[in-house]
Amino acid sequence: MKTIIEPFRIKSVEPLRHTTLDQRNAILADAGFNLFLIDAADILIDLLTDSGTSAMSTAQWAAMMRGDESYAGSESYFRLKRAVEDLTGFRNVIPTHQGRAAERILFTCLCKPGHVVPNNTHFDTTRANIEFTGAQALDLPLAESADTQVFLPFKGGMDVDALEQAIARHGAANIPLIMLTVTNNSGGGQPVSLANIEAVSTIARRHRIPFYLDACRFAENAWFIRQREPGYQDWPPFEIARKMFSLADGCTFSAKKDAFANIGGFLCTNDDSLARQEKDLLILTEGFPTYGGLAGRDLDAIAVGLHEVLEPDYLEYRIASTGYLGRHIADHGVPIVEPPGGHAIYIDAGRLLPHIPKHQFPAQSLAVELYRHAGIRSVEIGSVMFGEHARNELLRLAIPRRVYTQSHIDYVVEAILEIHARRRELRGYEITSQPEFLRHFSCRFRPLS
Ligand code: F0G
Repeated sequence: MKTIIEPFRIKSVEPLRHTTLDQRNAILADAGFNLFLIDAADILIDLLTDSGTSAMSTAQWAAMMRGDESYAGSESYFRLKRAVEDLTGFRNVIPTHQGRAAERILFTCLCKPGHVVPNNTHFDTTRANIEFTGAQALDLPLAESADTQVFLPFKGGMDVDALEQAIARHGAANIPLIMLTVTNNSGGGQPVSLANIEAVSTIARRHRIPFYLDACRFAENAWFIRQREPGYQDWPPFEIARKMFSLADGCTFSAKKDAFANIGGFLCTNDDSLARQEKDLLILTEGFPTYGGLAGRDLDAIAVGLHEVLEPDYLEYRIASTGYLGRHIADHGVPIVEPPGGHAIYIDAGRLLPHIPKHQFPAQSLAVELYRHAGIRSVEIGSVMFGEHARNELLRLAIPRRVYTQSHIDYVVEAILEIHARRRELRGYEITSQPEFLRHFSCRFRPLS
């Protein structure tokens, strides 16, 4: 059989609500043309993020009923700890309410002004949490990956020569850790090969610099390794993931992605004395180290999700369905980051709308038009989000896990192709107000005439 079906059936549903074009025009004006500021009830298909938006399984809901809500030493914690230890092999498992809480605790313990943290590409919260400590976040993506149209099997990797040069330039003593984000979210959801993870790990060990994975989408990354990296075709995704983690000294993890959880995360490290410091900080802001700001039932949902996400049927469907959206628009002329990534398709709005300059935010213009035309929410990943650090002007269509069916995606394809046909009518935007950090969440825009 050629057709790859959704490896689940639907037991519980949520209604979707249509709006009219007039309503959407009013909603956009009210929200200052920032899609983060639109009520979810006014969205038809929400591709804002794949984070915390997954449909949980019956097994996860059942596990939640077992949640042990003891303040200290709950059984739920030990079930999560065992699941994470089996998968990652890390010695210390510290739950947090989501990925950025793990980041804040890790960077608060390790970073200070003058420090530099290299990463293939920092996600927005990762960069912001590093910069908040006074340290510098340094992106070292592969040079070839700047061209969205180049097909590379592992376009998300780190430029290891650039890493060596950065260590020589800044000195190992000023680099408190090296990170790799798998998959590379801001770089198009592109995977990182085991060869690249091994190369970065070797360099880090040689310079005695701790090496961490930002492991939000580790399972999708493992599936790409199985499909594309010679030698791993027969490996179960679980074993590939274990090997990825075995090369690192710790990780940050948002369970809102590859654990199908609606909230949660964790921080792992093999360094016992660092773990003690991290737990002290955790108690201050997140909670006791056996719950870290989560309910016991959340810990159970994550423990089950970590196991489910590595099922080959799921991963085959997941990666194929993202590719389905990508190919159906790219084969009709819409430039996307090629090849399709794991959790999202990224439209290269800079290429699609060459008449809108970078400083007038072409990807924001496309995001607004996709909502106005079809009620679809997406997110700008370009100069609004990253300012001068943006390499491309991308519009991300992130696909929640196990949530939308093929007909939903066919509707998205249709909407994008209709906008593509009249792309020259789209106009740029200017920002009218913005906060100091992470401006994309709350800034307001004005359309330019
Ligand atoms: N690292 C990466 C690579 C991420 O994609 C995210 C979140 C985080 C860290 C932070 O995790 O949200 O649990 O605090 N990414 C979401 C997204 C928000 O839409 O890509 P968090």
